[in-house]
Amino acid sequence: MLPQDELKQRAGVYAADFVTGGAPIGLGTGSTVSWLIDELARRVSQGLQLEIVPTSAQTAALAAAAGITVRSLDEIDRLSLTIDGADEIDPAGALIKGGGGALLQEKIVASASGELIIIADGSKLVKQLGKFPLPVEVITFGWHQTRDRILDTGFCVEARLRQKEGRNFVTDHGHFILDCYCGAIQDPSRVNTVMHLIPGVVETGLFINMATRAIIGYPDGKIEEIEFRKEQVVIR
Ligand code: A5P
Repeated sequence: MLPQDELKQRAGVYAADFVTGGAPIGLGTGSTVSWLIDELARRVSQGLQLEIVPTSAQTAALAAAAGITVRSLDEIDRLSLTIDGADEIDPAGALIKGGGGALLQEKIVASASGELIIIADGSKLVKQLGKFPLPVEVITFGWHQTRDRILDTGFCVEARLRQKEGRNFVTDHGHFILDCYCGAIQDPSRVNTVMHLIPGVVETGLFINMATRAIIGYPDGKIEEIEFRKEQVVIR
């Protein structure tokens, strides 16, 4: 049985084969992605031509330190591929993300990408989203009010202001995060839509209809590729 960190490493290294170089790719945030960055840095040192668009200041710093060229999303029309981690993945490929606090930039980069590959260890696969507290990024002004309106929806029983090292956690974009304890989320799309109607909510950690593939590392050493079908979204 392999330790969890090694499963993340194997998934990250495996995903590097999807990076062919040339066009820039989006690069996610978190411990699994940091293994991918290590592998990409190795390949860059062997001649891979690579530019990345980071999903956080942390990823930008890691990539730059590893000798990978970092580009801004504003310099690019469209990304063909982004590779990122996740906190939960359901059978349809809906995700909870934001455990590392980078959900806003991660979602913008993912929505600019043709393909979103998720890399994770097998513990992230769930039948239904919601055991992991749903991160919701909110404006700092009036955050108590925003929290109360979130609780009014009835989708979660508790919404805790995220703390880090004894202080309120502040995102790369200057916002707070409320970790929302929802239990099993019956209808992720509805929860996402309703949360977005609340003044003060900037983004939710629900990534629906975005992932196209997952690369999963298991304790017995196996790697599984799961493909997800992207639905055509019609807004009425
Ligand atoms: C960052 O905000 C998150 O969305 C991460 O992608 C997610 O928490 C997965 O992180 P690990 O790869 O560290 O488990």
